[in-house]
Amino acid sequence: MDRFDTFRDELQVGGLPLSLLAERVGQTPFYAYDRALIAARIHAVRQVLPPGVRLHYAIKANPMPALVGWVRPLVDGMDVASAGELKLALDAGADAASIGFAGPGKREAELRQAVASGVLLHVESARELRALADAAQALGRPARVALRINPDFELRGAGMHMGGGPKPFGIDAEQVPALLRGMAPHGLAFEGFHVYPGSQNLRGEVIAESLRRSLDLVLRLAHDAPAPVRHVNLGGGWGIPYFPGEQALDLAPVADALAQVQSDLARAQPAARLVLELGRYLVGEAGIYVARQGVPWPGVPGDRWWYAPSFGRLWQFWPGDSAQLPGGDWQPAAIA
Ligand SMILES: Cc1ncc(COP(=O)(O)O)c(C=O)c1O
Repeated sequence: MDRFDTFRDELQVGGLPLSLLAERVGQTPFYAYDRALIAARIHAVRQVLPPGVRLHYAIKANPMPALVGWVRPLVDGMDVASAGELKLALDAGADAASIGFAGPGKREAELRQAVASGVLLHVESARELRALADAAQALGRPARVALRINPDFELRGAGMHMGGGPKPFGIDAEQVPALLRGMAPHGLAFEGFHVYPGSQNLRGEVIAESLRRSLDLVLRLAHDAPAPVRHVNLGGGWGIPYFPGEQALDLAPVADALAQVQSDLARAQPAARLVLELGRYLVGEAGIYVARQGVPWPGVPGDRWWYAPSFGRLWQFWPGDSAQLPGGDWQPAAIA
């Protein structure tokens, strides 16, 4: 099962017809997520991961507590980007040891919370590393550190680039050796590296190339590591089709690259675990937005009508066919 079913021309969500679900919720609009679709997607991803690769959920893709609680036992860890997300992950029962905290704008209070919780900090700048050392000293606890690298290559085809030239994400690769050498005396426990080159990529061969190049970069930088590398997070960015005509991601080249990357990493850094942090790919296609179809909007040339949703957010018109004009009560409609 990889998409919403229909039964007698009605969309089924979580085994319920959409109209019944809308009655159960008691109001529109709302978002609905199908737990079975999420579980099926995570299972499908696991099929292409070589044994030992850890799958994390990047909470920023959807922080709804019920969803995070459902996903938590299906994955090996969580990735968070704020103290709020950290709290969500911990409240959902995630083990602090399996949580990674990335994000370029971490505040001092967030660094202290992260150190106190014992999560792995993906450090994004030399300044942040210094602030983290201060937090560790103040709390009398070592801070677990992975350096987030701003890769020296750009990911073609990504919706948003996070590497290749100056970027606000991660430490430029050329600064990393000096930072690694200065880390040991400051209560900073080095564990590894994080590379996240870009998001919303629908081209499997580009993701494959980025995985290989990211690992090359990490292995080069590992020469200066103050301790054995235990953790290599090579990001997410697996895209989902948003617009008509977009093709779903082909996982075959990604699977091949992961097999190669995993075996190269095991050979070069035997203590290291490979981690992927996927967001939208795990949950994005398991959700729908449900609104009641309002009045048809007149004056559109041709045979097309536009339906205003009943809650009056005008930018959310959607096109319909005049032959399908609603006869009576407003009907719930889903926008996937
Ligand atoms: C550091 C980091 N990790 C994970 C994600 C999740 O990305 P995606 O939903 O593209 O897998 C993002 C998205 O921007 C990110 O910046």
